[in-house]
Amino acid sequence: MPRPFYVTTPIYYVNDKPHIGHAYTTIAADLLARFHRLAGRDSFFLTGTDEHGSKVAEAAAEAGVSEIEFCDRTVQTFQQAWKNLDIANDDFIRTTSERHEKAVWKILDAMRAAKTADGRDVVYSDYYEGLYCTGCEKFLTEKELVDGLCPDHLKAPEKLKEKNYFFRLSAFLPLLKEKIESEEMLILPQERRREVLGLFNQDLPDFSLSRERVKWGIPLSFDESQVAYVWVDALSNYISAIGYADDPDKFDKWWLGGEVVHLMAKDILKFHCLYWPAMLMAAGVKTPDTIFLHGFFTVDGQKMSKSLGAKIDPNDMVTEFGADGTRYLLLTQYPFGIDGDIQASRFVTQYNSDLANALGNLVSRVVKMVMVNFDGRLPEPPNGLAGFQELFEKAERLPNAAHEHINHFRIGKAIGEAMTMVRAANKFFNDLAPWKLAKEGRTNELGGVLYACCEILRIVSVVLFPVMPSKMRQLRSVLSLGDDTLTLDNAREFFNLEPGTEIRIDEPVFPRLKTSPRKESPVETEDDGLLDISEFARADMRVAKVLEAEAVEGADKLLKLQIDLGKEKRQIVAGIAKHYTPEKITGMSIIVVTNLKPVTIRGVDSQGMLLAVTKGKKLVLVIPDGDLPPGATIS
Ligand code: MSP
Repeated sequence: MPRPFYVTTPIYYVNDKPHIGHAYTTIAADLLARFHRLAGRDSFFLTGTDEHGSKVAEAAAEAGVSEIEFCDRTVQTFQQAWKNLDIANDDFIRTTSERHEKAVWKILDAMRAAKTADGRDVVYSDYYEGLYCTGCEKFLTEKELVDGLCPDHLKAPEKLKEKNYFFRLSAFLPLLKEKIESEEMLILPQERRREVLGLFNQDLPDFSLSRERVKWGIPLSFDESQVAYVWVDALSNYISAIGYADDPDKFDKWWLGGEVVHLMAKDILKFHCLYWPAMLMAAGVKTPDTIFLHGFFTVDGQKMSKSLGAKIDPNDMVTEFGADGTRYLLLTQYPFGIDGDIQASRFVTQYNSDLANALGNLVSRVVKMVMVNFDGRLPEPPNGLAGFQELFEKAERLPNAAHEHINHFRIGKAIGEAMTMVRAANKFFNDLAPWKLAKEGRTNELGGVLYACCEILRIVSVVLFPVMPSKMRQLRSVLSLGDDTLTLDNAREFFNLEPGTEIRIDEPVFPRLKTSPRKESPVETEDDGLLDISEFARADMRVAKVLEAEAVEGADKLLKLQIDLGKEKRQIVAGIAKHYTPEKITGMSIIVVTNLKPVTIRGVDSQGMLLAVTKGKKLVLVIPDGDLPPGATIS
């Protein structure tokens, strides 16, 4: 039996409203827990709220209510947002709860009882003086300030001196480093692991476990003049929720016996990769197995910080795209793990292209043909259809490939595999033109095509279930499938659907969204496979002038071109070497699609694609008519 899987998100500050940054991590954690569960693993998914600290006290005072009233109120906005997004967390931890308080006392007691290898106390009392930013809830170093201000909050920090209990971090650093190097505690992605290892070369002073000035916190059991430092309080949530202080069996199962995975963005790396494991080591508790720090994203190029910049309310996204559409869109904007930018203006087009067209339309077309031609009963499996073998080989690989990606936190790739499968099924359907088979009365072949597509949809409905649970349930009910077969094992089987099963659709699974104006309710239209103008308009095509051209070493078809796009110069690689010599193409005006993802072809970076026409075996460049300047847009 695989180890139980325990996944956490950061607990979010209650003085902020939920935004899509919080939603991103929470959806990702939900997806991981659901996927592992599909694969037969016992999974537990924890999220919650971070409710103590001076920032919360300030926000409560501003709102004219007590701290706890303020927390009770904002916690609901998080819980409601997660409900709206179909987040199936197994527990929700609040740092103001009694079980949490007990766990904080317990871990502090354990740390206080601990001695270092050379017999010193791990926890000691001392004075701390520093520059404190109430926005960050932390002391800042001079180096971190920009023009004397906290760069995140644009406020000058206050100079504070107070008595604190300190944690002797230095005593744990060598062993902690070893754990990270040996991957006993795995930090991912590798770039973040390197960043953490780099921290060991810097000065890493002991940190305070308590605060004297802050009043809104958990009072120390051994000194009521102090409250637990908000990060010590917050980090303990990962164990308080699973019974560290009050349910040893539960704690054994999920923490000691489970694979513990902390998910978050890279903003809170130091607390999670250094302080937290060191605290656990001091308290004699196992360190987490994996810490995955995904990227930080901007919205339309703007930073989404705690108190500045652009924010999108996930509830608004749910209104527009549904819970499943929102989950899908947020997780497919850029690879999980790296930084990215989210452009909300592209959501509708992508929704329509991926979900309404590729997936939803396949479902509608296949099922309607089963209803019309086979009286809504699933026909017999195919027998020697063109392209079928190839399609099934792909389908056979899908569950394991997606599982493997999920095991390595490659969420976008897992989703991408399923969508590639959907596109392959669309191609198979179009290539075999079942509408013609129906007209010609070739019932066996027609049935085979439809059966094959239903099987692909069954497999896809399992793999995409963790991303879009409710839509995939809807799709499964079209195929008369329930939750009993909602397992990865089931997806690995073939010809699993019983011929004769009732197949019916009453409404499209993914109704197309109107592209403009935005924020209208979904409308149901039949898809004709044509592009919307807005979809086409996403391609940015411009006139470019070729400045230089040269052959790409070892590739006789490729030319490397330096092009002038008016405002910028770029390099592209084009497969035209057999048709244009470098001399001939240099100086020509051509047309280039400029907003494609950069690729590397034969080791050469290419940032764009030129347009050409195939004429028999020849390739002819598309050139602008007249003397158009570089950078002119093709509209
Ligand atoms: N309360 C602390 C965490 C304590 S955990 C023991 C905190 N809270 S937070 O509300 O600021 O949440 C930070 C987390 O929200 C990030 O680590 C990330 O998971 C998520 N994100 C917030 N903004 C984000 C982006 N712009 N991009 C990606 N994730 C984002 O820090």
